[in-house]
Amino acid sequence: MVAVQSAPAHPRYVWWNGEMVEWEQATVHVTEMEWVGVSAVFEGIKAYRNPEEERINIFRLPEHLHRFDDSMKLMNMEPTWSAAELRDAIVELLQANETKDDTYIRPMAYFGRGGRSFRGRTEEAPNILIHAYPFKTALKTGKTLNAGVSSWTRISDNVMPPRVKAVANYRNSSLAWNEVQKNGYDEAIILNDRHKVAEGPGACVMLVKRGRVITPPVTSSVLESVTRASLLQMFGEQLNTPSEEREVDRTELYLADEIFFCGTGSEVTPVVSVDHYQVGDGKIGPITARMIDLYHDVVRGLDAPYDQWRTAVAGKTRKARAK
Ligand SMILES: Cc1ncc(COP(=O)(O)O)c(C=O)c1O
Repeated sequence: MVAVQSAPAHPRYVWWNGEMVEWEQATVHVTEMEWVGVSAVFEGIKAYRNPEEERINIFRLPEHLHRFDDSMKLMNMEPTWSAAELRDAIVELLQANETKDDTYIRPMAYFGRGGRSFRGRTEEAPNILIHAYPFKTALKTGKTLNAGVSSWTRISDNVMPPRVKAVANYRNSSLAWNEVQKNGYDEAIILNDRHKVAEGPGACVMLVKRGRVITPPVTSSVLESVTRASLLQMFGEQLNTPSEEREVDRTELYLADEIFFCGTGSEVTPVVSVDHYQVGDGKIGPITARMIDLYHDVVRGLDAPYDQWRTAVAGKTRKARAK
């Protein structure tokens, strides 16, 4: 009988408080879970394989780490590691795990070991965990979504600032997502407390009307999305398509020619209906299609502009150590 060697279900290491730790060793006491979600902040970053150069490119790593700093600041966390140190840690983690395929990277800062209430433990340094796992891209697969506007209101700056990536913010996302799923839609669009379009549970929203891309501004109760900023820049510089950041009414969704979600997780995902109103001709629109192609090439680094947006990860350099 031939022995079949199956791939491990998870990568070998996580990076935890300055150490490369074997996955199985990275454990905490169960009581530490209680209040972690109240203060925890995180990032979602993707690294894409470049098949021509056989290497991984992390997309806009410094920008994500900048937002990670902002998130920590708002939660009164004193960063223990600089953005440069975390950048090196992420690169070393991918190297130690011998990452060869598309990978999602998740740094997280949290108060543990005794953070027993909603009060931020400002006297205590936050713990930092970084883990990474494989994902399958939806880019160029033809994936489309039917969206529904949620009856839940998006959290706002004076309630729980959606501008930063706090774990607790996703309670609001979860309510909206579960509601529209029960109503038969794939994804939610959430309105803010002024009844204007904010974003999806885990992505920003853009629409196209008469050749113009429109998206809510960062003061409309949205995460300050790295993808959103990248796309706005690329529409102008690469696709010769004008864009506008302004408040968006609900009915503009129903009358749009094209709509898509954008974000690290969502990448660029077309929406073909909202509340059963067909968007355009119900297929992936031409401007969305061009952006999907461009975004795909840019994140992988396939003869694409914006070299400065990609952090290349070369082969293994530092030997990982068990804790
Ligand atoms: C609520 C929300 N909005 C927008 C985004 C998109 O942000 P980014 O492009 O920085 O990933 C995300 C996450 O990816 C998100 O969770």
